[in-house]
Amino acid sequence: MVILGIDIGGSGIKGALVDLETGEFTTPRHRIKTPEGALPADVAVVVKELVEHFDYHGVIGCGFPAIVREGVVFSAANIDKSWIGVNANQLFSEVTGCSVFTVNDADAAGTAEMSFGVGKDYQKEIVLLLTLGTGIGTAVFVRGNLLPNTELGHIELRGKDAERRASAAVRTKKKLSWEAWTARLQEYLSAIEMLISPDVIVVGGGISKDSEKYFPLLKTRAKLLPASLLNQAGIVGAALYAYQQSSET
Ligand code: BGC
Repeated sequence: MVILGIDIGGSGIKGALVDLETGEFTTPRHRIKTPEGALPADVAVVVKELVEHFDYHGVIGCGFPAIVREGVVFSAANIDKSWIGVNANQLFSEVTGCSVFTVNDADAAGTAEMSFGVGKDYQKEIVLLLTLGTGIGTAVFVRGNLLPNTELGHIELRGKDAERRASAAVRTKKKLSWEAWTARLQEYLSAIEMLISPDVIVVGGGISKDSEKYFPLLKTRAKLLPASLLNQAGIVGAALYAYQQSSET
């Protein structure tokens, strides 16, 4: 089974066809810049362009950086507030003419890591996947089952939203050294381990490829692992989600 997976992010909207037996792309990834302001109608146009690029006609999975319940967007930390209340499934299905299933981006990435990546070996444990990018996304798996829409990137640290202190974007924006940023990440991980007690923490997002620069400086109770699918995870997980949803309906 091959399904189009799309990952909507703050700077780029990316897609690829995904083979769900292997978790591999069957086409090169295609990326289109996120339109200025990322308003719903403008993002929908880009989603349509991506679908046309692949000349695709089946069901589509779409990772989205917010709380998404039954296709409806419920939060807007790093996206325009006008998304709140929008039924993204409906919006994207209308413009593309395909059935689109939208899912939180970190839940998508986590699902992919659990099925095809480092999470594969931890089906009996409690796994927390973090995506460190513009924000901090989280996905929690209890013995292989996802608790959807956890927003643990928004706990408070030193009076601030945690993702405003410890995301990957904060490191580049504030030009923090690896040591300085890792100290912030450590504070975040310790706070998280106070709240929930995962057996394994998987660090994903673009920054997972630099894990040798900061993993040695971190101390966690949980086993700490870099994600293995890097920037493919969001797309693969979105495709998997669409497959699961379309087979349920
Ligand atoms: C959002 C999450 C999202 C994460 C990563 C956060 O700001 O609240 O829903 O998963 O960013 O994109």
